[in-house]
Amino acid sequence: MDTSNRINNVEFSPIRKLISYEEEALKKGKTIYHLNIGQPDLKTPKEFFQSISDFKEDTLTYAHSRGRKELIEEMIKFYKKHFHIDYKYEDILITTGGSEAILFTLLSIFDEGDEVLVSEPYYANYNNFFDLLNIKVNAFTADPKTGFHLPKREDIICKITPKTKGIVLTNPGNPTGVVYREEEMKLIGEIAKEYGLYIISDEVYKVFSYGKNRAISFGEIEGLEENVVLIESISKIYSACGARVGAVISKNEKLMNEIYKLCQARLSVSTLDMVGAQGLYSKLSDDYFRKNREEYEKRRDLVYNGISKISGIQVTKPEGAFYVVVTLPIENAEDFCIWLLTDFDLNGETIMLAPAEGFYSNKELGRNKIRISYCIELEKLEKSIKILDLGLKKYLEK
Ligand SMILES: Cc1ncc(COP(=O)(O)O)c(C=O)c1O
Repeated sequence: MDTSNRINNVEFSPIRKLISYEEEALKKGKTIYHLNIGQPDLKTPKEFFQSISDFKEDTLTYAHSRGRKELIEEMIKFYKKHFHIDYKYEDILITTGGSEAILFTLLSIFDEGDEVLVSEPYYANYNNFFDLLNIKVNAFTADPKTGFHLPKREDIICKITPKTKGIVLTNPGNPTGVVYREEEMKLIGEIAKEYGLYIISDEVYKVFSYGKNRAISFGEIEGLEENVVLIESISKIYSACGARVGAVISKNEKLMNEIYKLCQARLSVSTLDMVGAQGLYSKLSDDYFRKNREEYEKRRDLVYNGISKISGIQVTKPEGAFYVVVTLPIENAEDFCIWLLTDFDLNGETIMLAPAEGFYSNKELGRNKIRISYCIELEKLEKSIKILDLGLKKYLEK
C-alpha cells in the first residue's frame, strides 16, 4: 500500500536530523549541550499548574471550538495592555499551539499551486506545511550582514507573481533574531495593499526583543486590518511548549470564519491546557516578562560576544527571540555539526547545533551556516562557546 504524494513531499525536520548521532554520542557517555532547539529552559510559571488544580469540573468536556471564552478574553486584555490593539471575541481562535494556527491559516488562504513570499532564512517547519499543501515558495534573501533585515522593495516585489497570495514573516525572527523596524513593516504593508496579499505574521516570540527596539506587532500597523493574520502561542513567551496552546488572530472576518470551520472539524483544543493558559494571561504581571527578557538578553550578549571573537566566524548581533545564525569558515556546516557529535569532545562534553541549510529555500545559501539557540543557562552557554571555538579549530586542521 502506498502513502499519499502529499505526505511523500514532506521532509523530516532538519532541526532533528542529527538525533541518531546524538544518541550514539550519549551512548559513549558524552554530555551534550543542546544549542539546536528552541525549547526554553525557564520554569513554566506556577500559575499555569495552579489554574489546573483549581479546575473543579467533574467531566472533562470538549471546549468550544473557538477556545475557552475566558482565555480569549484574557488574550484580548493582553493585546490591549501590551500592544494597544483592540481585538474582539470573534478576532481570536485558539489553536493547538502556533503550529496548528499556521496550518489552519495556510489551508484557508492558499490553494495548491499558489505562491507564498518569505524572507529567507525562515522557520524550517513552514516548509513542511508549504510542501504538504503544495504551496510554491518564493523567497527573497535577507542579508546576514544587515542582521537579516528586509532587503529593498525591488528585491521583494520582483518575487511576486499573479499566484502570490500572501507573505509569511516571523517577528522577532527564528532563526535570525531580527526585530523588524516600523518602516520595514510599513513597507510590507504597502506592498500587501498594492498586490492584495495577506500578511501572516508569526509573532510567537513577541515579548523577546532586546535593547531599545521593542518588537512591534503587525496588528499595530493601521490600515492593514483585512491583510494581517497573527500567529500566537504560549510556548515561548510563557515557557510552556508542552501546553500546546496558540491562536490565530485577525480582524478579517471572512478569513476567520473560514478558519473557524477547521476549528470545528477538530472539535476542541485541550481544555486543561487552556485552563492553565488562562492562569498565565490573567495572573502574571509585567515583571514576569521583564525578568525573562533580561535573562535572555544576558544570554544573547554572552553568546554574541563569545562567538564574535572566534576566528573566521561572521555574526551580527541578534535583536530578539533566542537564536543567532552564524556563518562558519567551512563549506559544509552539517558535516561539522555531525563531527562535533561523533568525533569531538572537550573533557567528555560537546554541543549539538542546527545546520542552517534547512532554514533556506536556496539550500546553498545556508550550507556554511548554523543556527544557535541560547535557551540554556549562562554557564552551559559559556562552556558551549569554548567547545565551538576549539571544535572549529580542530575541524579546520583535519
Ligand atoms: C517561528 C515559530 N513559529 C511557530 C512555532 C510553533 O510553536 P508552537 O506550536 O509550540 O506554538 C515555533 C516553534 O519553535 C516557531 O519557532
